[in-house]
Amino acid sequence: MEKFVIHGGKSLRGEVNISGAKNAAVAIIAAAILTDETCRIENIPNISDVSIMARILSQIGADVKMVNKDTLEINAGKVSPMVTVPDEMTKQLRASYYLIGALLGRFKCARVSMPGGCYFGVRPIDQHIKGFELLGADVNIENAMVNASAKRLTGCSVYMDVVTVGATVNVMLAAVMARGLTIIENAAKEPHIVDLANFLNSMGADVRGAGTDVIKIRGVEKLHGCTYSIIPDQIEAGTYMVAAAATHGDVYIRNVIPKHLESISAKLVECGVNVEDGDDYIHIDATKSKFVRCNVKTMPHPGFPTDMQPQMAVLLTLASGTSIISESVWENRFRYVEQLTRMGATIQVDGKVAVIEGVKGLTGAPIKADDLRAGAAMVIAGLVASGVTEIDDIYHIERGYEMMVEKLTALGADIACVDVPAPVKATAITAG
Ligand code: EPU
Repeated sequence: MEKFVIHGGKSLRGEVNISGAKNAAVAIIAAAILTDETCRIENIPNISDVSIMARILSQIGADVKMVNKDTLEINAGKVSPMVTVPDEMTKQLRASYYLIGALLGRFKCARVSMPGGCYFGVRPIDQHIKGFELLGADVNIENAMVNASAKRLTGCSVYMDVVTVGATVNVMLAAVMARGLTIIENAAKEPHIVDLANFLNSMGADVRGAGTDVIKIRGVEKLHGCTYSIIPDQIEAGTYMVAAAATHGDVYIRNVIPKHLESISAKLVECGVNVEDGDDYIHIDATKSKFVRCNVKTMPHPGFPTDMQPQMAVLLTLASGTSIISESVWENRFRYVEQLTRMGATIQVDGKVAVIEGVKGLTGAPIKADDLRAGAAMVIAGLVASGVTEIDDIYHIERGYEMMVEKLTALGADIACVDVPAPVKATAITAG
């Protein structure tokens, strides 16, 4: 077991390079099984969600090779239509359910165990199932296994009742080789949806409209291999933007697409931070900032991302006045508030709303990462707090942040990842 130990109070300075996008990579890795030819995927982030996804592909018979530190080659020629994807690995991440769409798209049948992922309350998959059924598949869930099969998949119109990234991805994967035209209405518009569409088109698919709320997919007979480079991670970039701001730092965040970060930049500016957009960088200068309150409402893209909500909450604990965060994507994404309260934050949560009263500062404490982005927020809290913060359960953070300790250390943070001895099991004391 490992934990982070942070000696807080240092301003971040310098520059940091952003890695490839986790949520694009996990969808694109699944999409690579739509062809029996080799896909070469560059700018792959070195994070545990990606390595688990790659291991699942190997386990079902794909040839998966890391050819250099950020390039993965996948050849799914030997994946069998009869494959069952078991639960030891699928339950470790959400994106494992993209194999349902990809296997269904290629073989017209899929048997995949239910996915895992961060706990934010109930995470239904009704919109995925609706999309598969409209394409012509029979879908049932038995013993936590999703079984989907079809004689043939036929293009259809799918209206998503909620804006969902996962169901948009899964229907795209299932529809690329369906007969005729599929139209996804009220589709998710996140940058990783556009990246997946570009990857599929590089494989010979005909996907148009990704990035708007209507995606049109004209089915093709066959897909082929390709070489593709993944976009930079919007949420990793946003996390460093907020970390730089909260520590009154001066940081260049490089290898980003500033357009993807507009909602985050806008909120930082509203809080009193200087943000400069370059072609492929963002410069955060908060050396003289006095943080002021603001309200944040999470929304699907291009709104403020829910995956930046916990990190932003840390900055708002340091802003003068009362800020309100409304979480409109997930039912329960404020579990981390208990940890921030241990560090001196004043936050009241009522359902999907958190009311934050700015405080003078935070103080170090032993805390834990409740999930991936909550964990990132705890790191930012540790960086700004006076004294020492120890963060347990950092495996959550490693799911989505490549070399976080190294990147923060290069920016001047005092953070270390240390081994923690496994807890000693209590043994019964027996008399004489
Ligand atoms: N929803 C339904 N029915 C469905 C699917 C979703 O009601 O069939 C609801 C969900 O309950 C939620 C909303 O729709 O209230 C949005 O869920 P979505 O499907 O968009 O979420 P997801 O695909 O499971 C992805 C990211 C999450 C991110 C959300 C929202 C991946 C692998 N995960 O999850 O990322 O929070 O979109 O943007 O892409 C993270 O990276 O830390 C993370 C949790």
